[in-house]
Amino acid sequence: MRVISGRVWYRGRLDPLSVGIDEDGKIAAVRKTLRADESIDHGDALILPGAVDLHVHMREPGLTHKEDFASGTRSAAIGGVTTIAEMPNTVPPVTTADALDGKASALKGRGAVDYALYAAPRSGEAVVRLRKATAFKAYMAPSTGDLQVRPPELESILRESETNRKLVVVHAEDPAKFRARKVVSLADHAEARPKEAETSALALLARVRGNARIHVAHVTSREGLDSLPSGASCEASPLHLFLDTSRTLGTQGKVNPPLRSPADREALWDAFRNGRIDAVASDHAPHTLEEKEAAFDEAPAGAPGVATSFPLLMRRSRAGDLDLGRVVAAMASRPAEILGVPKGAIEVGRDADLIAVDPRRVDTIRAKRLRYKCGWTPFEGMEGCFPTAVYLRGEAVIEDGEPAAEGRGRLLAPST
Ligand code: DOR
Ligand code: ZN
Repeated sequence: MRVISGRVWYRGRLDPLSVGIDEDGKIAAVRKTLRADESIDHGDALILPGAVDLHVHMREPGLTHKEDFASGTRSAAIGGVTTIAEMPNTVPPVTTADALDGKASALKGRGAVDYALYAAPRSGEAVVRLRKATAFKAYMAPSTGDLQVRPPELESILRESETNRKLVVVHAEDPAKFRARKVVSLADHAEARPKEAETSALALLARVRGNARIHVAHVTSREGLDSLPSGASCEASPLHLFLDTSRTLGTQGKVNPPLRSPADREALWDAFRNGRIDAVASDHAPHTLEEKEAAFDEAPAGAPGVATSFPLLMRRSRAGDLDLGRVVAAMASRPAEILGVPKGAIEVGRDADLIAVDPRRVDTIRAKRLRYKCGWTPFEGMEGCFPTAVYLRGEAVIEDGEPAAEGRGRLLAPST
């Protein structure tokens, strides 16, 4: 047995413990002391469950000039993310069983971390054909990839997903509430796709969701949280938790749904701190600097983030602004539960996906360190606590903060 020790997050608190890992990379025991063939002692560093990011766009196949599966998952590991759920707006889009199979074979053996694949059914019938997907994504508004579904299709997708017990992740913006205007700044973009678009889409979703399992992607406002359909889970992105329209980011801060005002961001942060947001997901959506250099209204929406979510939250926790339990819940245990994968907690029987992090080591975020193919981050210059080591099913994928192994990531089976 291999053993990893440190101050372990176990049963809701930190204790000096050892985690025993079996041949299959599963947690076999958690004790004060454990005898081992191989033992790695992280001393005072915290040992936390690896993060599960429910929302990433790794751009493969078809858009690999922006990112590819090897580079994107390497960055994930650098930021303590050991499981990603990959969005379907690649090229070709994952709307058919062929595209899903094609994507699964293209990615095989190339990921540094474990992964789930979303498909985007365009109709109720497609739900059955796409059953091999881990979960579904439904866009209620246009964004990168042109996968919007209209209310009648959305309703039929939800009905079929309900029957098949599939999770549907919803991009909730109602285009009927968009305002035609000249968009040259982050504030203009926020007005062009206002908060009312979010609340209106959520109200519509509440009317049609029935008993479908739904998860609302990137909620941006307190009003949005107040409009969540009952029983729906939700995520917020560090984009909306840490950045707002007061930043001088230009097109680098252009994302859908848009960054909001400082007051909205603070309200979202308070709601998160108080436990009203299930998961923090990056919405890692890289575009090249060249693409982002276009005029504001022409520039593509999206920004990279898979490597900075955990370090940013860990930094806030270290500053006393966020309970460590919230970090673990939002980055690991809740998203694992939502996706239905045996990850996200240090518990016997779960996969031994672990992060070792010393919160006293605070770094300034620099794009170079994150290794994104696009080479930039909207969080440049902010502070983060990065993991020193990351383990995927018991094997190191990051050592001394650097990539140590690649290609070990596995596709996770659908939970149904
Ligand atoms: O900002 C965004 N970028 N929002 C989306 O919905 C899609 C994403 C992308 O893929 O670029
Ligand atoms: Zn997205």
